[in-house]
Amino acid sequence: MSKHILILAGDGIGPEIIRAAESVLSTINQKFSLGLTWEHGLLGGAAIDVHGQPYPDVTSAQAKQADAILLGAVGGPKWDGIERSIRPERGLLKIRSELNLFANLRPAILYPQLADASSLKPEIVSGLDILIVRELTGGIYFGQPRGIRELENGEKQGYNTDVYSESEIRRIAKVAFELAKLRGSKVCSVDKANVLEVTELWKQTVTELHQNDYQDVALSHMYVDNAAMQLVRAPKQFDVIVTGNLFGDILSDEAAMLTGSIGMLPSASLDEHGKGMYEPCHGSAPDIAGQNIANPLATILSVAMMLRYSFKEEQAAVAIEHAVGHVLDLGLRTADIYAEGLTQVGTEEMGQAIVNALNT
Ligand code: IPM
Ligand code: MG
Repeated sequence: MSKHILILAGDGIGPEIIRAAESVLSTINQKFSLGLTWEHGLLGGAAIDVHGQPYPDVTSAQAKQADAILLGAVGGPKWDGIERSIRPERGLLKIRSELNLFANLRPAILYPQLADASSLKPEIVSGLDILIVRELTGGIYFGQPRGIRELENGEKQGYNTDVYSESEIRRIAKVAFELAKLRGSKVCSVDKANVLEVTELWKQTVTELHQNDYQDVALSHMYVDNAAMQLVRAPKQFDVIVTGNLFGDILSDEAAMLTGSIGMLPSASLDEHGKGMYEPCHGSAPDIAGQNIANPLATILSVAMMLRYSFKEEQAAVAIEHAVGHVLDLGLRTADIYAEGLTQVGTEEMGQAIVNALNT
């Protein structure tokens, strides 16, 4: 049976980075005879414009049928004014939640060619290879009750609930331990157990699972404020970081910057059976949308993650990753990673360069 992909370009720079990634997908599909097929759907603002909903039923039906999903990015000022419950970002949260994509893998790998593009000194970041495992369908992003209410004195009050059950903590920690075994065998669990009960339980549960099943992996714990500091002080101390939804959101942007540009970082969001949604870690960057200057490499590298995790096509995944390395060796750079003496290219040219590298 052929494997089917749903492509959701979304908003802002989404359509242009997806176009570049799709040409890479076509090339790799032919080159390795993968037999992949795909269709397009609407998510975020693009879906609101057509259906009045950021994650309409038709997209939900397509998503449930697909074996994997490739996503650009959602959101933009055009939809900022609309009611909170149907904003573009809610569509993204809904698809993550409905498909049970609880395990968000965000690798922060520094390509040696980009050591100078990092905001940190090259010796601090060279060889950096961190994997952030972020819980994606729980925590304060989804906890109830939530809302903005009016107090008796007429003042408004906003509130959210951070909540994790043992089973949710256990399943994400298991993913982190299993992945650590395939790389540096170190897991750092990030919490705020000195203040928040929800993360006190997080810490206890991760510790128990480690005791019972993963003593071959080195486990450490770190408070989130310290982790944020350590990431810029000595990021290479980390191998796998596992944390909840909100802390993972923040730390993964920080880790991304260490690698030179958030435009380089792919991600995978997986369910318990390996079905996944793949998207760049960056957002829809409305300020540069439609100008052919966005970096498509995070999306192209997300295609590689899709081949690896959902389709078990390791060779094809590695071919894409090598092609990215090769094109960087050639000195091609989009604006976000450009430095003097190199060749600045646009989104489309970068995509085409990866296609060319795969075809040679
Ligand atoms: C991310 C993004 C999303 C998140 C937004 C767009 C809802 O920042 O994927 O990191 O907060 O999860
Ligand atoms: Mg984020």
